[in-house]
Amino acid sequence: MSHKIQTLSGYIHEYQKSVLEPEAFWSRIAESFHWRKSWDKTLEWDFEGPDVKWFVNGKLNITENIFERYLYTKGDTPAIIWEPNDPNETNRIVTYRELYEMTNQFCNALQSQGVGKGDRVIIYMPMVPEAAVAMLACARIGAIHSVVFAGFSSSSLADRINDCEAKMVLTSDGNFRGAKQIDVKAVVDEALEKCSCVEKVIVLNRTGQEVTMEEGRDIWWHHAIEGQPKEFKAVEVDSEDMLFILYTSGSTGKPKGVVHTTGGYMVYAQYSFENVFQYTQGDVYWCTADIGWITGHSYIVYGPLLSGATTLMFEGVPTFPHAGRFWEICDKYEVNQFYTAPTAIRALQAHGLEPVEPYSLQSLKVIGSVGEPINEEAWHWYHDHIGKGNCPLVDTWWQTETGGIMVSALAGITPNKPAHASLPLPGIQPIIVDADGKELTGNNVEGNLCIKFPWPSILRTTYGDHEKCKNVYFSTYKGMYFTGDGAKRDHDGYLRILGRVDDVINVSGHRMGTAEVENAINEHPKVIESAVVGYPHDVKGQGIYAYVICDMSGRTEESLKDEIKDTVRKIIGPIAKPDVVQIVPGLPKTRSGKIMRRILRKVASKDLSNLGDTSTLLNPEVVDDIIKGAGL
Ligand code: WT7
Repeated sequence: MSHKIQTLSGYIHEYQKSVLEPEAFWSRIAESFHWRKSWDKTLEWDFEGPDVKWFVNGKLNITENIFERYLYTKGDTPAIIWEPNDPNETNRIVTYRELYEMTNQFCNALQSQGVGKGDRVIIYMPMVPEAAVAMLACARIGAIHSVVFAGFSSSSLADRINDCEAKMVLTSDGNFRGAKQIDVKAVVDEALEKCSCVEKVIVLNRTGQEVTMEEGRDIWWHHAIEGQPKEFKAVEVDSEDMLFILYTSGSTGKPKGVVHTTGGYMVYAQYSFENVFQYTQGDVYWCTADIGWITGHSYIVYGPLLSGATTLMFEGVPTFPHAGRFWEICDKYEVNQFYTAPTAIRALQAHGLEPVEPYSLQSLKVIGSVGEPINEEAWHWYHDHIGKGNCPLVDTWWQTETGGIMVSALAGITPNKPAHASLPLPGIQPIIVDADGKELTGNNVEGNLCIKFPWPSILRTTYGDHEKCKNVYFSTYKGMYFTGDGAKRDHDGYLRILGRVDDVINVSGHRMGTAEVENAINEHPKVIESAVVGYPHDVKGQGIYAYVICDMSGRTEESLKDEIKDTVRKIIGPIAKPDVVQIVPGLPKTRSGKIMRRILRKVASKDLSNLGDTSTLLNPEVVDDIIKGAGL
């Protein structure tokens, strides 16, 4: 049943097999899942379209591979351990049987509220077990979920609702995050003023705060499930039917809806989870991400639950009520695998060792990192002080679009190398190409990272706009999936991810398009033009630096900067708020009118070496003004 690789030679063997006979390799793995009807063909693909289909004509329901698969052997095993934001509130342990019943009950509720197969449902919820129930219930009735991180603004939420024409929104009254209490329902209400497609809103009572309920549209979660049976027969879907849409930022315009389908995603989420983390039955696994991101989808919900694992879900933040909260939770539940982001590590590292010392952390077997390159200093701190020098550290490189981990050590099986994601998982064929798309073979090469062969959880399209999917991922280099990342293969053959090579910045492991932030800034009535770049930030990895040309009348520079930051916070959400706003008289432009971002990046990172030839600019004099304005 399990396809867990046990040894280094096992990895080498599996990897070779996966490249030589990919279809045989994946069909053998897929066979260990429950399919209502087996597939006719393992893979059909063409990266031109792109058109990728895995397990063609297979019929299944992903939740039958969680519930029906584990109910009898693991009914009383904890599926989800929930730790609340406030440590004084009672925690919750939800067994596989309880999760099954909660999901079924909610399936019935969804159905009686008019949601069916193929309908889109937005989930805008805090980190509580009901959020997982919401996802699983959608999957069980064949509806398509789209989780939106509950920190996004009402207009970001409205954009996503309208883009996928969602019929329903699942939300809560409020949300506890650290010392703050957030008005979640009020954000939904504001968003819905701009959305005509939503028929019903189901509201979970989480904080008990006062909310307005719109007659005929809004219904409390506990009322929706009242009297609903705890049985529900899963709806059969096709292997290539959509499981979910997840919006993510790109280098142009608005976020796009990355589409993942059912069969391939299921197989890869489970396989990668079990192998990377080397999960053993009975272990307690904890990923600190939010379900609003792909990490939460694949490695809090689907991967672990498809493996019969116990997955810990934490509602709060790393520093509340104190900077040892993560480690306290690890000890409290004897966590065996711990998976977090470099930005969290760096933030906690800044508090010193005192918050770590009270905790033994001896249950930890594996520690993981995801979301951005992990710098060597953070790697060593994490490895030495959290892993106590004896836990493999898996640096997992992947993306929303890849659905699952692409490049990573398999814990304790393949070697660790600080700051290197290291080796591809079986089935993954990464290559490094030069600017012309020529593959750079051998070691000690650096270029752009592509993947040349499909894997089961590759994105299938971008919702409602297949051309966009083609242009963004499959057109830069013909016949290959382009990741948008730069990478180096070192002298030992290990991959090191160097970060984005496009206009995407990575702030605390969150992806932001520079164009998206610029569009938000430009909404401010005093703004004439803006340019946004990333710059190295000690804790966040990258910070957001905005150069803005403004009409200054009636404003002081400081007040205007604050207003601009606030505009971005309102339009996108707090995660997109610029760290630095510099008011400038002009932006450096080429004769064709293109902004020379290279110069802006240099100034933002306080590095004036190799500014290059600025004499070809349309307005070379502006560069000096910008440098002076930056205080350099
Ligand atoms: C981008 C994808 C999928 C996980 C959460 C982020 C960067 C992700 C690593 C890593 C270096 C990494 C890349 C990638 N990234 N993991 N281990 N080392 N960079 O998902 O929001 O889709 O962002 O995150 O730049 O392209 P995402």
